[in-house]
Formats: sequence, structure tokens, C-alpha cells
Amino acid sequence: MKKLLSTILTVSLLCFSLGSIADEAKAPSLFDRMGGEKAARQIVADTWYNHTTNPIVRNRFANSDGEYVKQKVYEIFAMATGADVKYTGKPMKPLHATMNINEAEFNAVVDDVMAALVKNKIGQQEQNEVLAILWSVRPDVVNSNLTTKTLTADPAAKK
Ligand code: HEM
Repeated sequence: MKKLLSTILTVSLLCFSLGSIADEAKAPSLFDRMGGEKAARQIVADTWYNHTTNPIVRNRFANSDGEYVKQKVYEIFAMATGADVKYTGKPMKPLHATMNINEAEFNAVVDDVMAALVKNKIGQQEQNEVLAILWSVRPDVVNSNLTTKTLTADPAAKK
């Protein structure tokens, strides 16, 4: 009897775990929750418009091929939000390292993306998730000599 009960318990636990794994696999990605490829391409196009009209960063993109950059940004955005899309552009860190990007510029770019999400009526939860992704890329983009922390550091404290 004891053995039967323990077998039933083991089998139910197994079914429960498999069920949870299946549910997790079915959960729609951030990419899908934002509306899939069409919405993502529109968000990227709106972000590009915002960058190229934003006085803080527009000069950075003055000589860029907009169609090329939009395609690469679409790929990285799609991949980072869970779509089955491969990023074929340059690696983030070496690409941005030579640009000496400061915090204000990084914040301006993030603002541009967030404004594009709002324009495309993306939900608050999805906005938060995109913001967290953008923040995670910050160390690869901002020159660490140009952060508030390093610029305001007390030289006397460096001993
Ligand atoms: C989360 C932040 C960022 C992400 C995910 C990102 C992503 C990208 C991607 C995917 C590309 C195209 C890569 C390629 O050429 O193969 C690119 C290019 C570029 N990014 Fe960023 N970027 C970010 C922040 C910034 C910031 C803050 C600036 C400066 C204001 C900036 C300036 C540029 C410039 C000037 C290019 C080159 C465009 C060209 O090739 O003409 N990026 N970025």
C-alpha cells in the first residue's frame, strides 16, 4: 500500500513538472508579446527617426546607411527579445568602443527606444523588459572613462 502511494506521488509530481515545463515552453516571447516582426520593424524605424532627429545623438548617425543600421538593429532587437532571428552585425563592444560614447548619449538612445515603444502602444510590462535589456548592454557601449562615477571620482581617493 505504502509503495503504491509513493508510486502515485512520484508519477503525479513528474506529470506536474512536465506540465510546468510545457507551459513555460508555450509562454509567448517578449518579441511575440510586442506584436512580432511587423511591430518590431516599426519600433526600429521609429527609433531610427528619433535618433536622427535627437540633437544629443543625431550627428553620430549623420554618415550612416539607415537601411543597413535598421536591419542590424532589427536583428539584434529580435534576437534579444526571443525571436528565432540571427544577429549578423558587428559585435557590440568593439563596434562602440572607438566612439567614446558618454552616459548622456546612451540615455538619449534609450529614451528614443522607449518613446518608440510608447508610440507603438507597447504594454508597460514589455517596456520594462526592453529597458532591462538595454541597460544590460550599457557596459559594452558607454566608455567607462566617461561615466559620472569616473568623471566625478575624487583623485585624492585614488591611492
Ligand atoms: C543599447 C544600446 C545600443 C545598441 C543595442 C546598439 C546597437 C547597434 C547596432 C546593432 C549597430 C549596427 C551594427 C553593425 O554595423 O553591424 C549599431 C551601430 C551604431 N551605433 Fe549603436 N547601439 C546602442 C547604443 C548606441 C549609442 C548610445 C550610440 C551613440 C550615440 C550608438 C551609435 C552607433 C553608431 C554611430 C553606429 C554606426 C552606424 C554606422 O555603421 O554607420 N549606439 N549600434
